[in-house]
Amino acid sequence: MHASALFNQLVYDQYHSTHAYSSFMSQSKNPESQAAENSSSAESAASGEGMWGGRFSESTDEFVQEFTASVNFDKRMYRQDIRGSRAHATMLHRTGVLSKDDHDAIQGGLDAVIADIEAGRFNWSVALEDVHMNIEAALTARIGDAGKKLHTGRSRNDQVATDIRLYMRDACDECADQLIRLLNGLLVLASREKASIMPGFTHLQTAQPVTFGHHVMAWFEMLLRDLERLSDTRNRLNRSPLGAAALAGTSYPIDRQITQELLGFNTLCENSLDAVSDRDFAIEFCSASAISLMHLSRIAEELVLWMSAQFKFIDLPDRFCTGSSIMPQKKNPDVPELVRGKTGRVYGNLMSLLTLMKSQPLAYNKDNQEDKEPLFDSVDTLLGCLCAFADMLPAIEVHHEAMRSAAKAGFSTATDLADYLVRQGLAFRDAHEIVGEAVAFGLQHKLDLSEMTLEQLQGFSTHISDDVFKVLTLEGSVNARSHVGGTAPEAVEAAIKRAATRLNNTYKPN
Ligand code: ARG
Repeated sequence: MHASALFNQLVYDQYHSTHAYSSFMSQSKNPESQAAENSSSAESAASGEGMWGGRFSESTDEFVQEFTASVNFDKRMYRQDIRGSRAHATMLHRTGVLSKDDHDAIQGGLDAVIADIEAGRFNWSVALEDVHMNIEAALTARIGDAGKKLHTGRSRNDQVATDIRLYMRDACDECADQLIRLLNGLLVLASREKASIMPGFTHLQTAQPVTFGHHVMAWFEMLLRDLERLSDTRNRLNRSPLGAAALAGTSYPIDRQITQELLGFNTLCENSLDAVSDRDFAIEFCSASAISLMHLSRIAEELVLWMSAQFKFIDLPDRFCTGSSIMPQKKNPDVPELVRGKTGRVYGNLMSLLTLMKSQPLAYNKDNQEDKEPLFDSVDTLLGCLCAFADMLPAIEVHHEAMRSAAKAGFSTATDLADYLVRQGLAFRDAHEIVGEAVAFGLQHKLDLSEMTLEQLQGFSTHISDDVFKVLTLEGSVNARSHVGGTAPEAVEAAIKRAATRLNNTYKPN
């Protein structure tokens, strides 16, 4: 399995969220001893009130403090937050708002803060509400007054909008990496199985023979569109909201292009009100992941069906399955089942975000803090499912004989016989009627069309001669469909070739 940076971060986050919770509990019981314990914590700003206390005549209710805090879930954006702060400080310095000494102190302080976080030495405080104030307070605790200047010309509103966009840009890239790995695996599988014959279904009833390679390439098409959506989502979110400040911009002589370029954004969010309140990109990601999970769950459903004793088309390697604690014979397709099941939460996340944003007046509202958990959950879930499928799908073991005899069993070449009669000059509706009679005869005598004698077939139409058997075989049926998008092995091979190029041209970060 590919170890992804986001996965590492997840493990890290999980560990530290427990840590943060327990340290908050001990801090709320005994603030002094907690502060003394940790030299990198924000001793001078033990709560968010340090950031806005001037206007308030009583301190925040302890429950409200916890209720309104987001640090336990937004601290996963610490790298993006620090990167944004560095760019902001550099811009302030270049535009003459911040002295060189203050700028250097801030950059050095942020180096130390990130080192503390990554070494697990950082004391995340719920009293400091979110990732932004935790980091700023820790910086000020380290470097003193220069730290207090970092927030000049900035608000948490444009700060958080910047952080999420930076986070999501990486998340799209991580998901795209896994999806590309999965798509490449499908090309390998399709190539291996390009001539394997199976029944194609409509209404889950045997319809016409297809090649398994062709079926796999249908999965490929579904998932390639998902990659297009990811690319599109990523490129539209790659715009800088920094400089919008709280909502109206700032009176400092800032240069938004400097931060845009330092942060690798493609362009600027044009309107300050929109910049701080737009969460379309989060909805787009959740929508793209909902569609992708819908696709994965369709594939999962086929794998689960095909692995059953009734189908026996495929097997999955043991490493992707589990057994039963009571039934010794069981081997359950847990991975596809779980992927199918996880589709629900990803749909739910999309609905949460759509509903979250509905009716919000401009500009920033605290409601927006609720964007992160559904969004992050969609990132984690999509990434996990893609990773599992990328590992599992190329490892499918195919039972060719079972597939083939299932394709034979359901009169799957009946349409081929009708098409044959049309080529002999009959109207399609008449041909359809004749073949229907032949199928009824076959059902009665347990004979496939290809197993009937020429005399028997001629009993249904005198237009039939012995060249009919070429079209009644499974190979004859699939080979005849050799046009672009058809199921013939040669058409599948050509599709795979084109697909490799299309895949290389799909995810194009701007
Ligand atoms: N934690 C907040 C969020 O996620 C950061 C922005 C807070 N802004 C504010 N005006 N209270 O949205």
